Amino acid sequence: MGQSVGAKKKVAILGAGKMGSILLQSLLRDGLLSPAQTWATVTHPERARLLKDKLKVHAGTDNQEAVQGADIIFLCVKPQVVADVVREIRAHLNEKQLVISIAASVPTDMIERALEKEVPVVRAMPNTPCVLGAGMTALCKGKFATRQHLEMATKFFDAVGRTVTVDEKHMDAVTGLSASGPAYIYIILESLAEAGVKVGLPRDVATLLAAQTTMGAARVVLETGDHPALLKDAVTTPAGCTIDGIMELEEGKLRVTLIKAVVKAVQRAKELAFS
Ligand SMILES: NC(=O)c1ccc[n+]([C@@H]2O[C@H](COP(=O)([O-])OP(=O)(O)OC[C@H]3O[C@@H](n4cnc5c(N)ncnc54)[C@H](OP(=O)(O)O)[C@@H]3O)[C@@H](O)[C@H]2O)c1
Repeated sequence: MGQSVGAKKKVAILGAGKMGSILLQSLLRDGLLSPAQTWATVTHPERARLLKDKLKVHAGTDNQEAVQGADIIFLCVKPQVVADVVREIRAHLNEKQLVISIAASVPTDMIERALEKEVPVVRAMPNTPCVLGAGMTALCKGKFATRQHLEMATKFFDAVGRTVTVDEKHMDAVTGLSASGPAYIYIILESLAEAGVKVGLPRDVATLLAAQTTMGAARVVLETGDHPALLKDAVTTPAGCTIDGIMELEEGKLRVTLIKAVVKAVQRAKELAFS
């Protein structure tokens, strides 16, 4: 159980879609939020009903009702609708509340300008593995947010994985690397599993081998702090099997492809909110 950072506060989650509901469910599960104090909104009334039935939170389609008297407001709508939602709710917001935006691409000053008052804003960029407490979230604070606001926001995301504070100028880079990253890793996993099938393994065994190997390698990097290149060298016996596999990866330009994938995603993150 996590510390009940939000349990005594009214918390509104505006846009409880894929990422919003991952956060909502995980924070409820860990006791960071209590259903009675949590309001969630979506656009489709039937989705609101599902959230209400499943999670026992207050759920609806009325953002203004959700934010009234809320201590913390999570903005989890698509980047292109953040400004509209902020304009819709701003009459009900004041300097004592905290807005936490998880929208890719949307700078804190864009939200602050739309709010038209000095409401503290923290920007966070989580990823979907938050669903299992294995998320990665980077956070930064806006002009009117204090260190305490940043700490409060960080506590929510600490409950669902690791957190790091970065300068806001790095948030698009974070988006392209760790927020989009799970998709890249799933493609790598799918490909490794497919390779296992190609060499005769049953698909379920191949998927298990690929996923556990990926997790194991990632844990070694995180827990030893060793450079990935050194760890790779330790697997690569002279004239052994791994070096033959690595040669294929180099020929297939895996490294440069991954680098270019992140660079493209970051470029898109820079333009999303303004498109
Ligand atoms: N997916 C990720 O991995 C990820 C990671 C980090 C950050 N993010 C950020 O999270 C945000 C949401 O992404 P997503 O992937 O979760 O998208 P999503 O599944 O489409 O969720 C968006 C949600 O917003 C709701 N919505 C739309 N307009 C609204 C409004 N005016 N008022 C209240 N709710 C409204 C939608 O309602 P309905 O369900 O009724 O359509 C939907 O539930 C984006 O800004 C994205 O950049 C996503």
